[in-house]
Amino acid sequence: MNVSDSERVSTLLESEGFEITADESSADIVLLNTCSVREKAEHKLYTRVGQIKPGGRGDKIVGVMGCVAQLEGETLFEKDRGIDFVVGTRAVGRVHKAIRQAVSGNAKVIDLKDREDDYDWTVADKSRHSPYVAFLPIIEGCNKFCTYCIVPFSRGREKSLPASEIVRQVLELRRTGVKEVHLIGQNVNSYRPGTESGLEEFRGATPFSRLLRAVAATGIERIKFTTSFPRDFHPDIVDALDEYENLCNWVHLPVQSGSDRILRAMRRGHTVESYMQRIERIRRSPREIAITTDIIVGFPGETDEDFRGTKELVRDCGYDAAYIFKYSPRPGTPAAELEDDVSDETKKTRFLELEEIQKENLARSLSNAVGKVYNVLAEKTSERDGGHLSGHTSCHKVVNFPGNGAAPGEICRVKITEAKSNTLFGERV
Ligand code: 5AD
Ligand code: SF4
Repeated sequence: MNVSDSERVSTLLESEGFEITADESSADIVLLNTCSVREKAEHKLYTRVGQIKPGGRGDKIVGVMGCVAQLEGETLFEKDRGIDFVVGTRAVGRVHKAIRQAVSGNAKVIDLKDREDDYDWTVADKSRHSPYVAFLPIIEGCNKFCTYCIVPFSRGREKSLPASEIVRQVLELRRTGVKEVHLIGQNVNSYRPGTESGLEEFRGATPFSRLLRAVAATGIERIKFTTSFPRDFHPDIVDALDEYENLCNWVHLPVQSGSDRILRAMRRGHTVESYMQRIERIRRSPREIAITTDIIVGFPGETDEDFRGTKELVRDCGYDAAYIFKYSPRPGTPAAELEDDVSDETKKTRFLELEEIQKENLARSLSNAVGKVYNVLAEKTSERDGGHLSGHTSCHKVVNFPGNGAAPGEICRVKITEAKSNTLFGERV
């Protein structure tokens, strides 16, 4: 979501006559987009401002956007004298105005106000992180309030983009040569547009599964979507995947913990059993659907027994990828009121133990791919070997292969010949 916000802000600033540079030393204005999901991410901001303006001095104008900007607001000016302006998560459509005020000498410019109704969600081709893969936010914000999570506070309430606008953008992306669109949101399956949804002609048990069918019907080569919230993961989403090949066979379904007691304390709204039912439906698909997850270790009160449950679940699910995080108390969240009673050392041991189990899952998942043929979207020439192309399968695995005349942007048939620790290698067939 942050990458996508940065893309939209670049688009806005270019259209307002600013020139975007990748070379920080030549920039007059540096805008830092920030994350506050864990404490470590938040600290990065102060390190970066210190590098750009040591001791708060220097001639560059430094602005902060994103979740830290939204949450910290004015206090940022006290925390770091190098910061000149602050733009909240829903004020991204007005960054140019904040910059102009800061440039004309106004001190401590701040905008934490709401999004304007006619906010333009489009991204110019030039501002996209890839010419072939596009991120498209379909819902922003979160209403779930998991007890550990800062996102509902930093990003505000859920707001869905009208389906007609999503379909219009996908058609436009397809026309300009984009091969893969990622529908993104904190919880894509909570997608709920207003009454004028534009989805009437599409079947589906939920607005999100209707949207998936509507986007699939545009004919764009590939559609991926992330993140899905387990409680609302309706089996009809998998039905849609079974019906349309351009809906990719990859589901990111964060479980967070394998203990019902901890899941309740996290207020996740799912149990191990209800989560496993979702997994079973996904596994029953005739397509081989990759499953990835997020897990937090060391939530307050997590015992060895609770953690055993998590290890068991990670083994049972055999995830294709798992992003593991050590619990980090976020001030303002309900969990931050609880004693952070799992020691750093225990968090670290649990993290490493889980990582070991996941390494086995990954090795199994990659070696299963050897000998099979996949459609790989060539996204770039590989850094290590100039002659090789690198890209993703529809199930979101990275594959490197000799291009033999193929160029980035092409979808190539590739037979997997070898699995290394993190990547697959193959040759075109
Ligand atoms: N501490 C650790 N990890 C967290 N996440 C969210 N909040 C916290 C926190 N306070 C993790 C969750 C989420 C991912 C994006 O970040 O696993 O799914
Ligand atoms: Fe945070 Fe829970 Fe919302 Fe995900 S669903 S963004 S973890 S509050």
